[in-house]
Amino acid sequence: MFDVKKIRRDFPMFENYKTMQNKRFCYLDSAATSFKPYSVIKASDYYYESLCANSHRGDYDLAHQVDVAYENARETVAKFINAKPSEIVFTSGDSESLNIIAYGLAELLNEGDEIILSEAEHASNILPWFAISHLKKVNIKYVPISNDGQITLENLEKTITNKTKIVSLAQVSNVLGRKVDIKSLANLTHKHGAIFVCDGAQSVPHMKVDVKDLDVDFLAFSGHKMLGPTGTGVMYGKYELLEKIPPLLTGGGMNSRFDTCGLVSYKVPPTKFEAGTQNIAGVLGLAKACEYLTDLGMDNIEKYELELRKKIIAGLENNSNVILYNKNADTGIITFNFKGVFAQDGASLLNSKGVCVRSGNHCAKILIDYLKADATIRASLYFYNDEEDVEQFVDACKHGKDFLDAFFN
Ligand code: ALA
Repeated sequence: MFDVKKIRRDFPMFENYKTMQNKRFCYLDSAATSFKPYSVIKASDYYYESLCANSHRGDYDLAHQVDVAYENARETVAKFINAKPSEIVFTSGDSESLNIIAYGLAELLNEGDEIILSEAEHASNILPWFAISHLKKVNIKYVPISNDGQITLENLEKTITNKTKIVSLAQVSNVLGRKVDIKSLANLTHKHGAIFVCDGAQSVPHMKVDVKDLDVDFLAFSGHKMLGPTGTGVMYGKYELLEKIPPLLTGGGMNSRFDTCGLVSYKVPPTKFEAGTQNIAGVLGLAKACEYLTDLGMDNIEKYELELRKKIIAGLENNSNVILYNKNADTGIITFNFKGVFAQDGASLLNSKGVCVRSGNHCAKILIDYLKADATIRASLYFYNDEEDVEQFVDACKHGKDFLDAFFN
């Protein structure tokens, strides 16, 4: 499909990082953060080395060149999700994006209204809504998750009422790894006159996400999980909604005037939401990340990750020491435990074999009742993982129990 050997050469981490155990380096934690290719690193470095000035403030050539680069980056990111540039707000990440959305939409809520979430949501898509529920005296409800980890149209139908004003759901849960049919859920939400917010942190890096096709009102995602620099993110919003909601942060750059009486006028979106000096180097890197992913093709990436996933599941299914929590999921997120072994110990064992995975509750703290496990191990794939990673991981899991027995006895 594409040449993974060649792709891995674009990522300096594979060449530069040496595991402390002198084992082959097998990185399976891209859901936490992804590696960055040279083109992204160079784009950020270029800003610091050759284009360093503030954006939207200076009256000299260099400042103008920065403005052009920054707005070109906005256009690239907009194209990546099929939005208009005026609908793209740069943020520090998915969490900031969701906070802007929640606090902005709070203005449109009244006491007794309802917000619908799911128990599979990451803290970023729960805590801002908790804060709003206290502030505006609105109720939080949870759409039930089906036995095989899905958020279905039927279950949303049963949960949504005429008091529902907002439905906010992840397109892919960072633990269950199931792809949610956002288009149908957004459609149902709109039929009830409510607003649909999509958390795209775990979907935008891995599959084609078209905001017009899905018809979501807002989409939040992080740059660092999709090859971009840390401290970058995006809040997409339909322009008429961006006009309606107030900004979370105020300050320089986002206002057009203010006076001693306290009268303030804000600029139009997206600038209204970008207070203070922006992460210009990060944004230029993020645009390069979008270009890199577009060149590979998002459909190819999704298909390739699914193939690797199937091989891993086939390898783990025969391992009687492994409990799989999301066998039927359709993305590169694999959540499991070793029987009778605390998740962190399991992750340390894998680390000793050169395999990097995350363990714990993965910031999805209210999902533990559904999983019936306080902590799990999560392996997460990206398109730069290869067959050798699959073999190394499956093999390390085979030796898991023996190693732990020896370790503890
Ligand atoms: N949200 C990131 C994860 O799921 C950090 O690991």
